[in-house]
Amino acid sequence: MNKIKNTLIAIVLFIVVISCGSKKAESANAEDYGTPDESADPVAALDPVAQGESLVKASDCKTCHHPTNKIIGPSHTDVAKKYDFTQASVTLLATKIVSGGSGVWGEIPMTPHPDITQADAEKMARYVLSLDGEKEH
Ligand code: HEC
Repeated sequence: MNKIKNTLIAIVLFIVVISCGSKKAESANAEDYGTPDESADPVAALDPVAQGESLVKASDCKTCHHPTNKIIGPSHTDVAKKYDFTQASVTLLATKIVSGGSGVWGEIPMTPHPDITQADAEKMARYVLSLDGEKEH
């Protein structure tokens, strides 16, 4: 009986060692492709809202805008609530981001951002317009 038990333990240990060995081989292979990071995520790369969020976070917008609180400029969620999430709003807001704007939310103007391309500004506008949960239509 003991002999069978020992043989079974030996077999189990053998299987454990083999499977650990193959796991190591798998992770070594995965390392060859490099560690995936968010910026390399193909879905995020194609999603203009996700791209817009990164662009807004990397730009100076947060000096004057908070996602949910009014600072110097309106909260980006308030902007999202004011406009329909349509291509027309995306174009309008992108133009404001690039050229600056004033008089819609109060006396304080938004500084122009001539270094931001219209395409990037449209991604930023899509991110802003998504903040109230509305989908583009
Ligand atoms: C110097 C402060 C400041 C910075 C920096 C700034 N904004 Fe603004 N933003 C404002 C103000 C003030 C308004 C309100 C302007 C108005 O009343 O027409 C505004 C308005 C907006 C609007 C709404 C425009 C409208 O006509 O309703 C959007 C969208 C916007 N900002 C996005 C951005 C984005 C994206 C960035 C970063 C690239 C940015 N802002 C950077 C101050 C700023």
